[in-house]
Amino acid sequence: MSRFFLGVLATLCGLLTTGAAMVWVGGVDVAADAPHHPLTYSVLDTARQRAISRAASGIAAPGDLDDPQRVRRGAGNYAAMCAECHLQPGVEQSEIRSGLYPVPPDLASRPDGEADPGANPADNERFWVIKHGIKASGMAAWGQGGMTDGDIWDLVALLRVLPDMGPGEYAGWVKASDGHSHGGGAAADHHGAAASHEHPPGTPPHKD
Ligand code: HEC
Repeated sequence: MSRFFLGVLATLCGLLTTGAAMVWVGGVDVAADAPHHPLTYSVLDTARQRAISRAASGIAAPGDLDDPQRVRRGAGNYAAMCAECHLQPGVEQSEIRSGLYPVPPDLASRPDGEADPGANPADNERFWVIKHGIKASGMAAWGQGGMTDGDIWDLVALLRVLPDMGPGEYAGWVKASDGHSHGGGAAADHHGAAASHEHPPGTPPHKD
């Protein structure tokens, strides 16, 4: 082996050892309020986009995504499970969204250039993300929580029209919805925005 390759090998070994030492001494900053180095961010962002587009390429969207019934059902689940992170018409920020990293895209607005890149991916990509989630980001795999594919397509149907709604129209859809209505864990939980009502503090769990 030439001296040149021995040199490359030694450099690589050095880098690996330095990286492992950084991890071991606790030198990697995992705080959500300390942004990644731009290069790290760009690698992670590219990995996310490429992986989602590959995974979603075989998924065909149903032909009835503009069915108002889908939008109606999607609105109830969105209000109950998504709006806190992804906002809703007339709401510009939320407490949890201010502290999450990466910041959840504003799904109630059209993307405005650099401010919110990628806030408008294709329907099948949105379906995949909602079903499977994104590691280490705060975006859950909702398919694990009892949502059927049909429930998820209802949400995708809502997301297509949400940015065009004003606060009043959105509230109307939520009111007309079945609230937090998908299966699984939701069946025992009536705290969806549309279905919610007040109970005195300390009320035990119950079915109404
Ligand atoms: C706890 C906060 C949180 C909640 C609740 C949440 N999400 Fe997310 N979501 C995120 C974050 C953070 C991302 C961005 C992840 C990334 O880019 O790595 C994301 C990404 C997405 C994306 C991809 C958007 C894009 O432009 O790439 C979609 C679609 C989405 N979420 C839909 C939903 C839906 C629908 C719900 C409710 C069922 C929901 N999310 C609930 C945090 C959340």
